[in-house]
Amino acid sequence: MESRQQWGTRAGFILAAAGSAIGLGNIWRFPAVAYENGGGAFFLPYLFALLTAGIPILILEFTLGHKYRGSAPLTFARLSKGAEWIGWWQVLISFVISTYYSVVIAWAMSYTYFAFTSKWGEDTEGFLFGEYLKLAETPGTFGGIVPAVLIPLVLVWVINLAVLYKGVRKGIELANKIFLPTLVVLFFIIVVRAVTLEGAVEGLNAFFKPNWDQIMNGKVWVAAYSQIFFSLSIAFAIMITYSSYLPKKSDITNNAFITGFANSGFELLAGIGVFSVLGFLAHQQGVAVSEVVKGGVGLAFVVFPQIINQFPAFNEFFGVLFFLSLTLAGLSSLISISETYVAAFQEKFGISRAKAVLGGGGLAALIALVFATNGGLYFLDVVDYFINNFGVALVGLIEVIVIAWVLKQLNALQTHANSVSDIMVGAWWKVSLSVITPVVLGYMMFDSIKTNVK
Ligand code: PHE
Ligand code: NA
Repeated sequence: MESRQQWGTRAGFILAAAGSAIGLGNIWRFPAVAYENGGGAFFLPYLFALLTAGIPILILEFTLGHKYRGSAPLTFARLSKGAEWIGWWQVLISFVISTYYSVVIAWAMSYTYFAFTSKWGEDTEGFLFGEYLKLAETPGTFGGIVPAVLIPLVLVWVINLAVLYKGVRKGIELANKIFLPTLVVLFFIIVVRAVTLEGAVEGLNAFFKPNWDQIMNGKVWVAAYSQIFFSLSIAFAIMITYSSYLPKKSDITNNAFITGFANSGFELLAGIGVFSVLGFLAHQQGVAVSEVVKGGVGLAFVVFPQIINQFPAFNEFFGVLFFLSLTLAGLSSLISISETYVAAFQEKFGISRAKAVLGGGGLAALIALVFATNGGLYFLDVVDYFINNFGVALVGLIEVIVIAWVLKQLNALQTHANSVSDIMVGAWWKVSLSVITPVVLGYMMFDSIKTNVK
């Protein structure tokens, strides 16, 4: 066995954890979710979810990885023989996500290239679905692989696998040291441009205007918790794997706070940027901001190209900045999800990193081809829906219940975290994990089963 690799520096670990957290979810998910769930008032449940689930679970997962020094399955197995399956379940979710997340990064990569000439033309929707994705007329048909998607997809996987092959310090840490600071600088330039556009103020007003009536609505709290889970990459095996490479002397609790606040800070920045340009678009079209709000694929690949077309100057430049930002944000997250199974396969089968990267990553890359066909977007939506509704909340719930109630490990883990951290965790941490989070996640599960059965 190769001896366990370690991060070179504390900043390296934090950049990698933040690089995993900061992803497409910050840019295209958060702004729309916040807007639809009370605007300025959403910050209250959001902050509550961050402080009672996000950061406590980050501390929990950092502690698990640091204490048991294994991939997620091995960490759970060391915690208790019978708990290994929880780790595998999380690894499986990450494996599936890596197959389609990589395809979205491939689109962003193509669009970075298209941005040089605004190749999307005037009809940005027709371009994305028709010309570029060559979407099948009938949902559920595979059709052939779309060559325009295949090329960037291969590139995405070559980069991802090369980084993973290089290992923790020379691969993952180095990549994040380059990607994340670059991302922040590029994105900052975009936001500065965005807030100075005509109409930006109306956009920001729409975003921050608090709708307090919504605050008592259960759905708003569910949205806040879902956003925190997805956005912080918790219960995906990622943070356990990354923290298993921490040196013995590491301030776990502080690192968790920094990661959590960095991710939320980037979310806020993205919200400001996105709503400024949406305000600009509404102004150009002479409509209300509410008419142009969108999230997800439609926001990034239809609305943004349309907005970039209308920029007063330097359209190509800002187009490149935006899609390069998406690409970098996505790549650092993809690396982290893929590392979960690389590490798990290495330990489970006693194979080298090279073999695990080639076997695990190679398989995921092959499956990714399904989403590069002209039925791809339909499949992507189906799988994404399934993962988000039945995968993440459920496995997160099981993780906290098993650790807090079945194995009764919170006290031992608290002692471990406090033995290496400056900030001591106490009642707040234990109550969040043993009571608040299980209750809210349990409600979420119940709620999602109820709406799906209806
Ligand atoms: N946290 C990432 C984001 O906000 C998404 C992600 C989820 C990445 C799960 C990896 C695993 O976009
Ligand atoms: Na995020």
